[in-house]
Amino acid sequence: METVVSGIRPTGNLHLGNYFGAVKNFLKMQEDYNCYFFIADYHSLTTHPTPADLHGNVRQVLVEYLAAGLDPEKATIYIQSDLPEVAELTLLLNMNAYVGELQRTTSFKEKVRSNPNNVNAGLLTYPVLMASDIIIHKAHKVPVGKDQEQNLEMTRKFATRFNHMYNHEYFTIPEPFNNGEALIKIPGLDGSGKMGKSDGNGIYLADSPKEIRKKVMKAVTDAGPTEQNAPLSEPIANLFTLMTAVSQPDTIDYFKEQYANCNIRYGDLKKQIAEDIVAFTNPIREKIEAIASDADYLRKVVNMGKEKAHESATKTIREVREIIGFKPF
Ligand code: TRP
Repeated sequence: METVVSGIRPTGNLHLGNYFGAVKNFLKMQEDYNCYFFIADYHSLTTHPTPADLHGNVRQVLVEYLAAGLDPEKATIYIQSDLPEVAELTLLLNMNAYVGELQRTTSFKEKVRSNPNNVNAGLLTYPVLMASDIIIHKAHKVPVGKDQEQNLEMTRKFATRFNHMYNHEYFTIPEPFNNGEALIKIPGLDGSGKMGKSDGNGIYLADSPKEIRKKVMKAVTDAGPTEQNAPLSEPIANLFTLMTAVSQPDTIDYFKEQYANCNIRYGDLKKQIAEDIVAFTNPIREKIEAIASDADYLRKVVNMGKEKAHESATKTIREVREIIGFKPF
């Protein structure tokens, strides 16, 4: 069975855009692949979280992914810092990662621009750490969004370079994972762009029904159709896209018809969307609350993941050390 590796940034709560994107992808992959999903807490240190925030963020992200359906019996779910082998592999790969190529990566240049007073070496070597995450389990596939494509390219480069350097086809060269079915891209509530792009345009899995209703009722609309079968403006098209994720097809048809006949009342449309979102997120929110207060369960999940991840990582490190030439006396 092919192996998939993916890291999860421990920042922020999951919104519907995350759910119908990354999470759905994970749920599908855990059925068909040998998956390693981890929370990238080493990576998050580049932004200097406080110790309390660090743990809280990791915990919340873990809770929400579990509530959304990641299954520790199917996938290996672990915390990156529980696998210090990754740090060792990073050190070893750093010897063949060139400062010039690291400086030229888009994400590094962007961070230098946006945060010139925190250009730390961890940011520079971020792609090396990410490469280690991936190749330590000899991943065949990595699900990557647009923003991570270059990092995966770097991973392929470092793995290939290692193999050439030691004249040994040791590391698997990972490919981007392409999901056959197109995922729904959930738009934000502010009329344009995707959910999560700006603050306040997202609906979170942990939001209460009251919050959800309030947010949806405030969503941007337009002045309403003035002629039969008018084309949809962007904000209205966005509301219908949101409906395709959470509403029944006949409900969607009903409102489309109302729109086409110029009888639509956006207030009713929004009420419907809000209720359908609430019905969808309610069981997930309840799970979030249950898992968040179950420290024993969380500990069990984390320990199980750590153990499974260790097995694969220690084997890789042992072999890599041997290939490099570290020998016992
Ligand atoms: N860099 C990824 C992000 O920002 C997170 C990540 C860390 C990752 N290591 C990874 C993703 C390994 C895939 C594979 O989203």
